[in-house]
Amino acid sequence: MTTLSLTLRRPDDWHVHLRDQQMLAAVLPHTARQFGRAIVMPNLKPPVTTTAQAAAYRQRILDALPAGLDFMPLMACYLTETIDPDDLAQGHAAGILTAAKLYPAGATTNSDAGVRDLVRIYPVLERMQKIGMPLLIHGEVVDAEIDVFDREAVFIEQHLIPLRAAFPALKIVFEHITTREGVQYVETAEGPTAATITPHHLMINRNAMFERGIRPHMYCLPVAKREVHRLALRAAATSGNARFFLGTDSAPHLRHLKEHDCGCAGVFNAPDALACYAQVFDEEQRLDRLEGFASLFGPAFYGLPVNDDKITLLKNALESAENWPTPDGPVRCFEPPGGLHWQVVRDYV
Ligand code: NCD
Ligand code: ZN
Ligand code: ZN
Repeated sequence: MTTLSLTLRRPDDWHVHLRDQQMLAAVLPHTARQFGRAIVMPNLKPPVTTTAQAAAYRQRILDALPAGLDFMPLMACYLTETIDPDDLAQGHAAGILTAAKLYPAGATTNSDAGVRDLVRIYPVLERMQKIGMPLLIHGEVVDAEIDVFDREAVFIEQHLIPLRAAFPALKIVFEHITTREGVQYVETAEGPTAATITPHHLMINRNAMFERGIRPHMYCLPVAKREVHRLALRAAATSGNARFFLGTDSAPHLRHLKEHDCGCAGVFNAPDALACYAQVFDEEQRLDRLEGFASLFGPAFYGLPVNDDKITLLKNALESAENWPTPDGPVRCFEPPGGLHWQVVRDYV
């Protein structure tokens, strides 16, 4: 294999779960080594629902950061039906809350305190629209009657289209999209609309969950879909359309809690996240568009400057890590089915 080196402006991760305490300390270095900033998801137990909680969580992240790593956590507030719009707006004005996250109650890990009836948060969304605060959406319906593979597409029809019509100027990020319908919606939606795409949804389809047996480490929400959807995501990510940008959705769970009767949803991809994206762009012969997706389009949507530093990747044969230890037991790392041929060789300079 030819050795190829690629230097990029340092990227950001616009969707990551860093967790808390020992897990935070164990996983944070992976994210901070690659990404200059990250939108940190607020689905802790209990969730981060106030400016004060977000400020305290941000401080815990900064305290857990190994010396010498330069990384800025950007905080998202978890929307509930009783959220205080004044606190949200003050947190945003103070630079503590970058965005607010909508979890339909019951849709995913730690979403029970989320929103049951969207109309109940309309006053909050009105306020966010006014102050230019982005709304980040886990876009799946929770209706048990709806097939799990259809929940994203149904969410678009039932909730996203009406929400956009009610708030034409609201900044909306449709998080971790997994379907052709999601891609088409984001391409054509009016108003400031964007989507994050994960490395694993670019690399696996739903077969990966059933490869010679049940594969809990390939299970996340929204669940991976058919091949046609993966191809639509790859086309979108590598299209150069600034509405699509990087969000890993790295979501660590202890290995024994995924290999379980009721295994947790979430793929821990932080160790090799940027390498996975590079591999996808390389396979699509679009390495020239990786920097836009990874480092430019996210900041443009959020209205933030791009990072000044650079990061270097190398293409060569290598073994990716399988397990990552934490004091409570290992977490299993995402391994692309065909192997991984890229690695970050020089952290940001
Ligand atoms: C995430 C988690 O574990 O917090 N899990 C997942 O499957 N993606 C929650 C989420 O992003 O929906
Ligand atoms: Zn989610
Ligand atoms: Zn997530």
